[in-house]
Amino acid sequence: MTADLATSLTRPGRPPARRRRRLLLRLLIGVLALGLAGVLGLAGLAAWFWSQADMSNVGQLGFANQLKIPPLLEPRMDGAGRKVFDLRLQQGSSELLAGKPTQTWGANGAYLGPTVRAARGDQVVMHVANDLPEPTTIHWHGMHLPAAADGGPHQTIAPGQTWSPSWRINQPAATLWYHPHPHGATEDQVYRGVAGLFLLEDPQAGALPLPSRYGVDDIPVILQDKRFSPDGALDLGKSPFSPIGRLGADMLVNGTHDPHLKITSQRVRLRLLNASTARVYNLGFADNRPFALVGTDGGLLERPHRTTRVPLSPGERAEIIATFRPGERVVLRSFPPDLGLDPIQGRFAGADDTFDLLQLRAGATLTTSPPVPDRLADHQQLDHADVASTRRLELNGSSRINNLRMDLGRINHAGTVGTTEVWEVTNRSGNPHNFHVHGVQFKVRDQTGAGPAPALAGWKDTVFLPPGSTVRLLVQLPGYPDPAVPYMFHCHLLQHEDNGMMGQFVVVQPGQPPSSPPSHQHRG
Ligand code: C2O
Ligand code: CU
Ligand code: CU
Repeated sequence: MTADLATSLTRPGRPPARRRRRLLLRLLIGVLALGLAGVLGLAGLAAWFWSQADMSNVGQLGFANQLKIPPLLEPRMDGAGRKVFDLRLQQGSSELLAGKPTQTWGANGAYLGPTVRAARGDQVVMHVANDLPEPTTIHWHGMHLPAAADGGPHQTIAPGQTWSPSWRINQPAATLWYHPHPHGATEDQVYRGVAGLFLLEDPQAGALPLPSRYGVDDIPVILQDKRFSPDGALDLGKSPFSPIGRLGADMLVNGTHDPHLKITSQRVRLRLLNASTARVYNLGFADNRPFALVGTDGGLLERPHRTTRVPLSPGERAEIIATFRPGERVVLRSFPPDLGLDPIQGRFAGADDTFDLLQLRAGATLTTSPPVPDRLADHQQLDHADVASTRRLELNGSSRINNLRMDLGRINHAGTVGTTEVWEVTNRSGNPHNFHVHGVQFKVRDQTGAGPAPALAGWKDTVFLPPGSTVRLLVQLPGYPDPAVPYMFHCHLLQHEDNGMMGQFVVVQPGQPPSSPPSHQHRG
């Protein structure tokens, strides 16, 4: 065979069959080489994405910028004794990264919005003027209120219009927040910067010796990750490999990049809000010091929980109290969160990421703070024995609940005003999700069989669900019957929400049927 081949190489006029075979061989080698190059190229690309997907800023920050504190929005009192707040949603330019202007959106300013503060019993009026170039809504996340005042996707504010809901604050002290909720556009509007805190106070909480001087020892900490284009613009592109949505490697706290905060007292309360559209944080201090978790979404826990980490998925809040020694510098850090994913998926969902968020700089002398009290609040017990109905909700893929996509014209369920229901929520997908209910604060009754972890024992409105997990929630339906205007429930990973992982419920009088939601408010 070899000899034959050797002679064939020197001999002109080879038979056409053999020439064809050689040609085929060359072709085959060519194709294989191309294929190999393609595979190597893809592998290289995948390796590049893989390495890009692992994010950290540890060691890269100088903590050069003083943490911005969102201003408190001063209300005016109207003739009826109501507290009137004015929010104007607007476009503007912000210097989020030093020397690079970024086009952003905000409320009463170019980025984020002021902190609204009200007390239990207050009748509030919110004037929300939309100077943005597109329709929006403003939702009061975590608030007990009538569905028509809730600011979900049915309460559209057209450009140039003002929306003025009013309600009475009727729930315990808590760290709530507000953000847009237009159907299909929530992720981008929140990402551009429309969001702010809504703090509630009540007399019992106010009497506790907890740090409560806003901006001094009671600090708002609004966490957001961003991705910037080289020119400083916000990058609104997708994250192609991320199962949870757009992730960025630049951290902002209250819209401040690379921030520090000077503190003057021994104990400080941090009101942590995950206002990111997708990223899950696992918060603690770089030196692993313990701290007291005193509050969750809906207000103070019954007792403080001493821990070194608090995980926070998008939309969730935590109030922690940390203790400092004079002169020290400590960094608030997000450690790799447990998302319940395999290593590859986890990498692209931020499960390997570590971020320094805020450096706390203690003064040379600190004023003494009282210790954290053992009892913080008495919670109303929801009646396990008297459950009106059990609802089963399955989160499917990245855009459906019970295999349905959000339809503004469909009421997914109706419940009777003020009754308690069990909502059994299961994540049937391979993606992480969380689950948020409007108009209420619920209790987690159990998580995949076990009782709730201490950090989930308080009032919650948003709960994280790794793939395969189930939570059973005790939900006391809002006390505001309205058969025509629904509340929402949805995944608070905003890309999933925008894709349709959302449903609607109405609250009716006993025996009353739901009516169909107002169709004239449908988008498009
Ligand atoms: Cu914070 Cu329906 O949302
Ligand atoms: Cu909400
Ligand atoms: Cu989701």
